[in-house]
Amino acid sequence: MAADDRPTLGIGMVGYAFMGRVHSQAWRSVSAFFDLPYRPVMAAVGGRSEEATAAAARDLGWAAAETDWRELIARDDVQVVDICTPGDSHAEIAIAALEAGKHVICEKPLANTVAEAEAMTEAAERAASRGVYAMVAFNYRRVPAIALARQWIAEGRLGRLHHVRAQYLQDWIADPDFPLVWRLQRDKAGSGALGDIGAHIIDTAQFITGQHLTGVSALTETFVTRRPLAEASAGLSGGSRTAETGTVDVDDAALFTARFSGGAVGVFEATRFATGRKNALRIEVNGSAGSLAFDFEAMNELWFHDHTLPAAEAGFRRVIVTEPDHPYAAAWWPPGHGLGYEHTFTHEVKDFVEAIAAGAAPSPSFADGLRVQRVLAAVEASAADSSRFTTVEES
Ligand SMILES: NC(=O)c1ccc[n+]([C@@H]2O[C@H](COP(=O)([O-])OP(=O)(O)OC[C@H]3O[C@@H](n4cnc5c(N)ncnc54)[C@H](O)[C@@H]3O)[C@@H](O)[C@H]2O)c1
Repeated sequence: MAADDRPTLGIGMVGYAFMGRVHSQAWRSVSAFFDLPYRPVMAAVGGRSEEATAAAARDLGWAAAETDWRELIARDDVQVVDICTPGDSHAEIAIAALEAGKHVICEKPLANTVAEAEAMTEAAERAASRGVYAMVAFNYRRVPAIALARQWIAEGRLGRLHHVRAQYLQDWIADPDFPLVWRLQRDKAGSGALGDIGAHIIDTAQFITGQHLTGVSALTETFVTRRPLAEASAGLSGGSRTAETGTVDVDDAALFTARFSGGAVGVFEATRFATGRKNALRIEVNGSAGSLAFDFEAMNELWFHDHTLPAAEAGFRRVIVTEPDHPYAAAWWPPGHGLGYEHTFTHEVKDFVEAIAAGAAPSPSFADGLRVQRVLAAVEASAADSSRFTTVEES
């Protein structure tokens, strides 16, 4: 057996449910597909209950279990803290980890408030001056088709950008009896569909176009204002419910129009009530020289219209983004064999580890996360003020 003499990078992950399982899959598989300068070692997983955290460590491949995230951060074998908890604990864990000299990858949205996101960004900037780095986990940037769309737009293939049409459509809370899980509680989630999935399309739109949102006009709606209480902390599946009910104090849907820094205009829609749509993150960009369209429900495809062709032969054509020349694709299967949701996280940790090794700030940074947070705040302010056009605060 060949000796692996690469330096190790110990990972400590907090939270082991939906995102924790996906991130574990990424850490387990990344070295098998990408040639990394460090060998990631799954040192410890953090939770709250001893028995459940030990079971998660065993099932997901972590060497040890900790029931206090502070102990996890303090471990000598942990150099990276991976935060997979709801938004109410992101700031506290991330700032403590950065101050302890640990690199941080933190799930989105960066935080529940702009103030928290600002404090996290300041901590990240202080840490970066000591060679300690932070990244916010907007994984959809690592869908090969989305990375390709950004590349083509940066090359000028769409010409001047006019329109961005972005939607994130799910339907998992359309049933009024679906319980009041943490995502429906403002103190845990910060906002509803807006922060949970709207944050993704804001980041994706800014990433693809290379422009940022400068102002929005928004409305939000809560269709079901009371729901049965959940038996225990439960994720997207809801788990069991009790006879008691509680108030939903976040938006069920958020819709807004926007202006971009480069002159484009946008329409955004985030909802978990789009019956029949499961994880439809869609984005279409129209420019003077052509258009691009993407839907995560067909994530290996990017649609491209070249408007410089004669009208008689122009039209949208489907590009299957699995060729070795496409972003990330060479590491995987032969052309046409397709990638899935989990691969975006493998790409994310690959890019994160490479940035750490290069001594370079990973992207998206906490500052990018803060920029998204400022858009979320502008959307809420606009919606609360009869959709008044609201400028996004500059950092
Ligand atoms: N990038 C994506 O596509 C994506 C998808 C889903 C969720 N997320 C984000 O990931 C984060 C987690 O969401 P999820 O769906 O995995 O939630 P989840 O409810 O499935 O899991 C949350 C986990 O955090 C644990 N936890 C909560 N508070 C804790 C604490 N103080 N100490 C230790 N553990 C704690 C819970 O026990 C659970 O293991 C959220 O910020 C969410 O917005 C991102």
